[in-house]
Amino acid sequence: MLLNFADLRRGAQRRLPRFVFDYLDGAAEDERCLQRNGAALERLHLLPTTLRDTQRIDTALEVFGQRWAGPIGVAPIGLVGLVRPQGDVLLARAAARAGLPHVLSTASNSRIEAVRQSGAAQWFQLYVMSERAIAEQMVRRARAAGYSALVLTVDVPVSGLRERDLRNGFRMPWRPGPATALDVALHPRWLAGVARHGMPGLVNLSEHGGSASIEAQAAILARSMDRSLGWDALAWLRRLWDGPLVLKGVLHPGDAKRALEFGVDGLIVSNHGGRQLDAAPAAITALPPVLDAVAGRIPVFVDSGFRRGSDVVKALALGARAVFFGRTPIFGLACGGEDGAHAALMALRDELERTLTLLGANSLAAIERGHVWQAGA
Ligand SMILES: Cc1cc2nc3c(=O)[nH]c(=O)nc-3n(C[C@H](O)[C@H](O)[C@H](O)COP(=O)(O)O)c2cc1C
Repeated sequence: MLLNFADLRRGAQRRLPRFVFDYLDGAAEDERCLQRNGAALERLHLLPTTLRDTQRIDTALEVFGQRWAGPIGVAPIGLVGLVRPQGDVLLARAAARAGLPHVLSTASNSRIEAVRQSGAAQWFQLYVMSERAIAEQMVRRARAAGYSALVLTVDVPVSGLRERDLRNGFRMPWRPGPATALDVALHPRWLAGVARHGMPGLVNLSEHGGSASIEAQAAILARSMDRSLGWDALAWLRRLWDGPLVLKGVLHPGDAKRALEFGVDGLIVSNHGGRQLDAAPAAITALPPVLDAVAGRIPVFVDSGFRRGSDVVKALALGARAVFFGRTPIFGLACGGEDGAHAALMALRDELERTLTLLGANSLAAIERGHVWQAGA
């Protein structure tokens, strides 16, 4: 039975070739940041209040003028096509069915326009490469297609050192060794998908879908992040994008203050699921100082290591507006396609509702700071 994250993770591990599973599941260096994300959430407890009317629980909220059924979103994930053909479209549909937003990655394998048609509350995530014309055409297309927010990811000037990928030979260009070839052969359903649809490509890096191989495109993406990107680049983005602009990957309260000065509309506190700086703090630990710096002026979201509806409530009790999930929906997709991703998201929604009932909070507004309890305090 696929009831929780551990079940979904195991299911994905069984169904996917090892190099794909490790790409999804792995993190940087010793994967301490990945572990820290979970451990820090475990150290936070929820303190219930009793004898409150919880007959009806309202988990809905409004973000940038759009209604979400719950404070839960699907984080941007690159190379989802490796999990399932048309994986980005399936994820967007699953999120829309669950009444939740979906963020499409720059490194997606389905076209910006196609995913927009499948989704409801659709945000677009941007990586800026040295050739800024690539970012410009993507932002223009996202705007024309009707994406409702632009998410600039700021924690990838260079990729984190993902040692599992290196061990599996999953570096670009991808040249599977004998072990990987055997592994792939042992996953015939996965192989059949690739045989039918071809290896997924980074179809949004060029305007017309691009004919370059995934290896060539990923090499472009990995080597040519624009490391000169500074705060002044926000003015350039503003000229291209007049909707809400969100920075993803902020951990430092000083950066949060600067984001306010530069007129950013929202922040996602994130350590990229532990995939970038292994020595970075847990996202939930970095959240309160960022919230203090922002002082309620813009919504602050968080991701990295969240696994349960109760984890969402912990972040909300600290003051976050909503929580994004990366691996949870992607493992759901691996287990059961669109329905699997949908089930994973609905399980989070159900857990959230049950947690609120147990906590004595019948809406998101009823969650109080005092509902969260730091173990040892
Ligand atoms: C396989 C994988 C690919 C990712 N690709 C991107 C990406 O293309 N752009 C981005 O901003 N974040 C990317 N992320 C980071 C996620 O958006 C998110 O920050 C992270 O997965 C949250 O942690 P969680 O997986 O523990 O929920 C990726 C994460 C994973 C696991």
